[in-house]
Amino acid sequence: MSAPVIEANGARIPAIGLGTWDLRGRTCARVVEQALRLGYRHIDTAEMYNNEREVGEALRASGVRRDEVFITTKIWQDHLAPGEFERATKECLVRLRLSDVDLLLIHWPNPRIPLAETLGAMCRMKQAGFARHIGVSNFTAPLVDQAVALATEPLVVNQIEWHPYLDQSKVVAATRRHGLAVTAYSPIARGRAADDKTLRLIGLHHRKTAGQISLRFLVQEGAIVIPRTSKRERLEENMAIFDFTLDDAEMDEIRKLAHPAGRVVDWSGSPNWD
Ligand SMILES: NC(=O)c1ccc[n+]([C@@H]2O[C@H](COP(=O)([O-])OP(=O)(O)OC[C@H]3O[C@@H](n4cnc5c(N)ncnc54)[C@H](OP(=O)(O)O)[C@@H]3O)[C@@H](O)[C@H]2O)c1
Repeated sequence: MSAPVIEANGARIPAIGLGTWDLRGRTCARVVEQALRLGYRHIDTAEMYNNEREVGEALRASGVRRDEVFITTKIWQDHLAPGEFERATKECLVRLRLSDVDLLLIHWPNPRIPLAETLGAMCRMKQAGFARHIGVSNFTAPLVDQAVALATEPLVVNQIEWHPYLDQSKVVAATRRHGLAVTAYSPIARGRAADDKTLRLIGLHHRKTAGQISLRFLVQEGAIVIPRTSKRERLEENMAIFDFTLDDAEMDEIRKLAHPAGRVVDWSGSPNWD
């Protein structure tokens, strides 16, 4: 089964991808290869995940053609000065053993480095053919506006934490206003949504699990989702979200689960950008 594709500023991105944070070594290689064999066509990695080598190995071992898979990597906060950014990008490609990635992201903003300089470097990486598309991650609404104004190449994605416990309407609206797609990371709230009573009850009507309801909710909100799992059966479970529809009342009920302390990823080390 092939997943729907989300189009954004010239990019075509599979609506579901495999997240790989915290998957390392043989486990990472096994899970990524299994995912590709099961039909995943979008893999999310990053230089700080320390698993790009295994992601590249798994891609080659899977037998799936390179041009059929959408590969994202991200450059860490410490490498956003232009020279560092370019060096880090090339090192990602060496570890992946690829000539380019489909999407190159700024992993987190860094207020100590002028955004214009980082974006300049990222646009050069795209022009040089090292990345087919570029984008950002963990950017707030005002930062998305700034980034779009400064970039000389189109940005296609803002990757942010998003799941039923977090109201992201403000940043989602700002991101979409510029034609970027939103990728939802931690889309099952690091596993928390899979135990949620409301999501379970809704799932009973559709013969789906609470985890699948969380993912389907985001897909119906127009997001790209990148759930991570180390388990084969959950790879299949997380993909089986395109054969049913939540109705308006169910969507509203899920939206009500959002609350101000709903984040599962720690932002405490980040400056207050709003
Ligand atoms: N840009 C960023 O700053 C950023 C930050 C965080 C994450 N991300 C990306 O987003 C990806 C996903 O986010 P995440 O890894 O934080 O969290 P997540 O995908 O929401 O949750 C992963 C956790 O949920 C469990 N799980 C997966 N599928 C399940 C299911 N169907 N039922 C029950 N439990 C399930 C997994 O355990 P098992 O392994 O036991 O299945 C794992 O512990 C990351 O891997 C990474 O690629 C990006």
